[in-house]
Amino acid sequence: MQSSNASAETIVVRSPRTPDEWDAYYALRYRVLRQPWGAPPGSERDELEDSAVHRIAVEASTGRIVGCGRIHQRPDGTAQIRFMAVAEDYRGRGIGSMLLESLQQWAWERGIATIVLYARTTAIPFYLQHGYRVVERAHTLYGAIEHVLMEKRRA
Ligand SMILES: CC(C)(COP(=O)(O)OP(=O)(O)OC[C@H]1O[C@@H](n2cnc3c(N)ncnc32)[C@H](O)[C@@H]1OP(=O)(O)O)[C@@H](O)C(=O)NCCC(=O)NCCS
Repeated sequence: MQSSNASAETIVVRSPRTPDEWDAYYALRYRVLRQPWGAPPGSERDELEDSAVHRIAVEASTGRIVGCGRIHQRPDGTAQIRFMAVAEDYRGRGIGSMLLESLQQWAWERGIATIVLYARTTAIPFYLQHGYRVVERAHTLYGAIEHVLMEKRRA
């Protein structure tokens, strides 16, 4: 578990625990990553939820879930990060960085050498700052959101 004092609010990064937390976690994913493009509820999940590793950023004073992210190991031995999202009014305070570092730590501790992710082009600077490099252009989601494949190798 990691904690940080983000703008005077203590934020704790950990796995979701209760049914209410799981609901709030998927709701945040949906609100940030799917709803603005009119995608249907359910589109914020994939078939790997049960086997993946999940992290939420919880505001200690309110219990509110203000950020989330997920990682899973792929058959080729690499790991993939998906569904990184921070509530709009909590961005730019280091919460995304805490989530990313927690997910990376999970991979490095298991001896996984490479993490990949498909980044929205708007998020490329965030991942560059964390040592990822652009590998190639990738898909465009909902005809609008361009993605690039990025990767980071264990130091
Ligand atoms: C991308 C995202 C998860 C980053 O979370 P965050 O909590 O705002 O990130 P942090 O505060 O830890 O940012 C770390 C650094 O990256 C920078 N950064 C974050 N998002 C950025 C962006 N879109 N463009 C440029 N820089 C960005 C911040 O300025 C900060 O730099 P600094 O420390 O020099 O000020 C968040 O902006 C988000 O949810 N965006 C919408 C959904 C999304 O795009 N998810 C990723 C899908 S691939």
